Amino acid sequence: MANSKYRRLFEPTKIGKVHLKNRLVKTAAQTYFFDSGEHRISSLAKAFYGAVAKGGAGLVIVETPAMEWPLAETGDRRFRVDDDRYIKDIRELTDAIHKHNCPAFVQFYHRGPWGGALQSNRQSDQPVAKRVAASAVTLGALKSVFDESSEEEPPEALTIAEIEEITERYISGALRVAEAGFDGLEINTGGDHLGHTFLSRFWNKRTDKYGTQSIENRTRFAVDIVRGIKKRVGHDFPVQILMNALEIGAGEESLSIQEAKEIAKTFQDAGADSLHIRSHWVGVHQGSFCQEVLFYPEAHVPLREFPIEMDWSRKGPGANLPLTALIRRVVSVPVMAVGGLDANLGEKALREGKADLIGMNRRFFADPEYPNKVAEGRLDDIQPCTHCNNCNKGYGEPRTCRINASFGTDQYEVTKAAKKKKVLVVGGGPSGMQTARVAAMRGHDVTLFEKGPYLGGSLPLAAMVKGFEVEDIPSIIRYFKGQLRKLGVNVRLSKEFTPSDIDKITPDIVVLALGGTPTLPDVPGIDGRNVIKSADLYATLRFFIRFLGPKSLRFLTKIWMPVGKSIVIVGAAIQGCQLGEFLTKRGRKVAIVDTEKELGKWMYPERKTRLFYWFRKKGVTLTSGVKLEKITPQGLSIVTKGGNEQSLQADNIIPAMPLAPNHDLMKKLEGKVSAIYTVGDCTSPGIIPDATASGWQVGNDI
Ligand SMILES: Cc1cc2nc3c(=O)[nH]c(=O)nc-3n(C[C@H](O)[C@H](O)[C@H](O)COP(=O)(O)O)c2cc1C
Ligand code: SF4
Repeated sequence: MANSKYRRLFEPTKIGKVHLKNRLVKTAAQTYFFDSGEHRISSLAKAFYGAVAKGGAGLVIVETPAMEWPLAETGDRRFRVDDDRYIKDIRELTDAIHKHNCPAFVQFYHRGPWGGALQSNRQSDQPVAKRVAASAVTLGALKSVFDESSEEEPPEALTIAEIEEITERYISGALRVAEAGFDGLEINTGGDHLGHTFLSRFWNKRTDKYGTQSIENRTRFAVDIVRGIKKRVGHDFPVQILMNALEIGAGEESLSIQEAKEIAKTFQDAGADSLHIRSHWVGVHQGSFCQEVLFYPEAHVPLREFPIEMDWSRKGPGANLPLTALIRRVVSVPVMAVGGLDANLGEKALREGKADLIGMNRRFFADPEYPNKVAEGRLDDIQPCTHCNNCNKGYGEPRTCRINASFGTDQYEVTKAAKKKKVLVVGGGPSGMQTARVAAMRGHDVTLFEKGPYLGGSLPLAAMVKGFEVEDIPSIIRYFKGQLRKLGVNVRLSKEFTPSDIDKITPDIVVLALGGTPTLPDVPGIDGRNVIKSADLYATLRFFIRFLGPKSLRFLTKIWMPVGKSIVIVGAAIQGCQLGEFLTKRGRKVAIVDTEKELGKWMYPERKTRLFYWFRKKGVTLTSGVKLEKITPQGLSIVTKGGNEQSLQADNIIPAMPLAPNHDLMKKLEGKVSAIYTVGDCTSPGIIPDATASGWQVGNDI
């Protein structure tokens, strides 16, 4: 029986003839879980989509196969629908979903113009798909607004023959996926992909039958696809269209909500069985669908310039809902909302008549069992999506999730251990908590020692530095704490481990999750009074976090901090960059230098681009590949890559370098216990996803 608080969410519904047991839809999103060879339907893809279906989704929409030219891109981790020979393999995927009484749609989209924008991330041996659009518009728009590099070439305008060929590719692809067992299809005309370039006056400068003279012409590409599918696959084969209800950032030529309403009605008249509503901010790709990104590190335009047609009250989540509601008023087919939604926002939207279906994506990445856990009222058991967008990293690489270490593997279930063992985990950071959780789920008797007074390791500190508006780090701690309690893990806080504890506890296995060792640059003057060692700074902050919590401490640092007015940070990986942002927001003048070539290591690309753009605006300098000469009372002397000597004047120097592994205790324990493992920064310093992944692995191995 579904949790009555979410009664509407769990009401059954239909898209065309397809029955949905509830209104929670897993939206399409490229996981790159497919293989790149001839047999593309991989175990990773089957495991993930199967897990989502098993987890209780009302509908799963599988990510797009390759729809561009050339279809067979080597190394491209998408599946193929351009030949009948793929049908048999695709059926394995639909079977994996259907097995759990869940219908499966697949999305088709052609990257159109922005395929090219991603080419820089491709492996060198991958052929480059032709970049095409309705028209060859100049690319000031396609390029990220944060990118100050020189203008790219415009995409090629498609000829009528090419448009007809792509239309046919969609229709014949639909025939194949229907034969392979998919219950319906979603056509993506959203974002700034090919479909949208016909709908938008900004993108479409054509004067032929696909031009902007009328809504009929602008919608012709998508409408021909819908009609073709209905004619050749069957009138009862459901087709959903994903469309932008608003385009932002292209001035007068931006697609307006009034135009979107006309387009939505035209799609419905052409036979679309449902609509999926999004919006698009030109040049801000990810911020257009993961809208909290628009606020990182600050909104790139003043809030008063944000479109008033949308709801920005939650700084991203639910921003599209007013648009979905407006479209819903002019059509009779079901309308799906998406964008930062959760069960609460979704239920509210359904009750207020703003949507018929609630689309979610990252919540399923973080926890494929999201619907079942909501229905059963097990909200504390949901692995929370923290909106870190780590899953958005890279192109063509299988995705991973910070909280869900199963994502990107073919193992979503935890199996009981053959023999119950006594496990001692030393360290209560993310890797230690994850190890303890998984080990306890497997039936082991687990004790966790944490020398500090709270669980979470460096997470509360990270939350204090990063803030709470965009990412929800405290939810990670809440989740793990709750799980350890439920699983009966014996958590001992303020308990520093000493090797003699082994004799008292007699564990079969010890897992060291001690965190890494802080490092300092080898430069004369490092012991000067103006050097603030991050280890000391963080120790002080931890002390205050204990009493105030990260939120209040963050607020208080706006009033006072024990650092001067001008700071040089040594280390430009994620830690140094985020510290730079934190200090700049507190009125400090910041320069960041690194001896390495790479700036922003471990940051996911869109956030890095936005942060570096913001740094430029705020006068924060970032210099890579420098040689550190000496620290003086006046600041830091460096030699740049080009061989120029520079004196960076600063009140304080703060080294914020990546941690080093910490093997000390491991050495002391050798021979005292039969099995010792190390996890997280202690063995391989990295970021939160690395920590949770290594804890998960060891938890499963022991
Ligand atoms: C890694 C990633 C890949 C995505 N790929 C697609 C895609 O291929 N097609 C699409 O329509 N939307 C794609 N999206 C957008 C999602 O379907 C969804 O609209 C977005 O994540 C917002 O929903 P959420 O806040 O529930 O995650 C992607 C999103 C992410 C994070
Ligand atoms: S990686 Fe981050 S944003 Fe992506 S699903 Fe996981 S927690 Fe959410």
